[in-house]
Amino acid sequence: MRIIHRPDWTISEARVTPEAVALARRTLLGGAGAALAIRPAAAQLSWFGTAKPLPARPPLPARHDPQFTGGRPLTPEEAAITYNNFYEFGTDKNIAWAAQTLPVSPWNIEIAGLVAKPRTIALEDLLKQESLEERIYRHRCVEAWAMTVPWTGFPLAALVKLADPLSSARYLRFTTLADRKAMPGLEQPWYPWPYIEGVTMAEATNELAFLSLGMYGKIIPKQDGAPIRLTLPWKYGFKSAKSIVKVEFVEKRPVGFWQQVQGNEYGFWANVNPAVPHPRWSQAQERLLGTNEMVPTQIWNGYGKYVAELYAGLKNERLFM
Ligand code: MTE
Repeated sequence: MRIIHRPDWTISEARVTPEAVALARRTLLGGAGAALAIRPAAAQLSWFGTAKPLPARPPLPARHDPQFTGGRPLTPEEAAITYNNFYEFGTDKNIAWAAQTLPVSPWNIEIAGLVAKPRTIALEDLLKQESLEERIYRHRCVEAWAMTVPWTGFPLAALVKLADPLSSARYLRFTTLADRKAMPGLEQPWYPWPYIEGVTMAEATNELAFLSLGMYGKIIPKQDGAPIRLTLPWKYGFKSAKSIVKVEFVEKRPVGFWQQVQGNEYGFWANVNPAVPHPRWSQAQERLLGTNEMVPTQIWNGYGKYVAELYAGLKNERLFM
C-alpha cells in the first residue's frame, strides 16, 4: 500500500492546533468543510509571539528600491517572523525557537551543473560581488495566508550571471540544507529530504526573482531561511526555498519537495491565481498575518506586469498549481 504523507495543512486539525482551540472551533463550525476559513485566525492567537524573545539580529543596511512598495501596510515584524513554514524544524508554525540551532556560519554555496566553471563559493565572497537592496514584496502561501515584508538581498539574475551557465541550461535546481544534527524535522523519514525547488532560466532572470539575506532591515532570522533564501513573490510560498546550499543549472525540469510529496496538489509552476482552487480549498481570498483581515487574492499575486508574459506560450502547462 502506498502511504501518502501530506503537508500539515492537509492533516487533521487536532494535530496542528492546540487542543482547546481545535475543540472550540469544532463546536463553532460543527463540520470540517469550513475549517480553513477560521483555522488560522484562531490558531494565530497561540502561534504569534514566543514565550521568550528571539535573539536580536544585527542590522543589514541597504538601498531601498522604491519600485517595490508592497502595495499594502507592512506585516508587523513579530507576526511575520513567528509564523513559519520550515519543515526541517517541525510541521507547525511555531518553529522559530527550534530553528535557532541552524548553523549559518561558515556558509558555502555550490554552483554546479551546466556552468562554465562549477565551484563552491563562500557566502561572504559572494556578497563582495553583489550589492544589496531592499524591496517590499507580498508573500502568498498556498495555505491562503499572506504577509508584506521588506526583504534585503540581490536579484537572482545576478547569481545566474556570476554562474555563467551554458546554453544547454534550462532550469535552476535549488537544494537546501539537510543537517540531521541541527534539524529535528529530518527525523520524519517519509519526507523526501533535502528540500528542493526549481525555476526556469526565464523565471530566474526575471526582474522580480530575488535572493534574500535580510528582513525588516536586519539579518534574516534563522526561521525564515537564514542565511540565504529565495523570494519569488508571484508564486506560492513553497517555491521560495530557504537556507540554500546548492544551485544547479540543469536541462531537466526539477521536481520540488512538495511536488514529490503530493504531485497532484503541488506542481512545478505554482503561480498565484484566485480562480484556480487548491484541490481541497479556495484560493479566492487570503488572510493577512497580523490583522487577520481577509482580502481578495490577486492573479500572479499582483505582479502580472512583471511576469505574465513569461507564461504566454505555455497554455498546456498547469501554471497555477
Ligand atoms: N524552505 C525549506 N527549506 N523548508 C520549508 O519547509 N517552506 C516553504 C518555503 N520554503 C519551506 C521552505 C513554504 S510552504 C513557505 S509558505 C515559505 O517557505 C514560508 O516562509 P516564511 O516561514 O519565511 O514565511
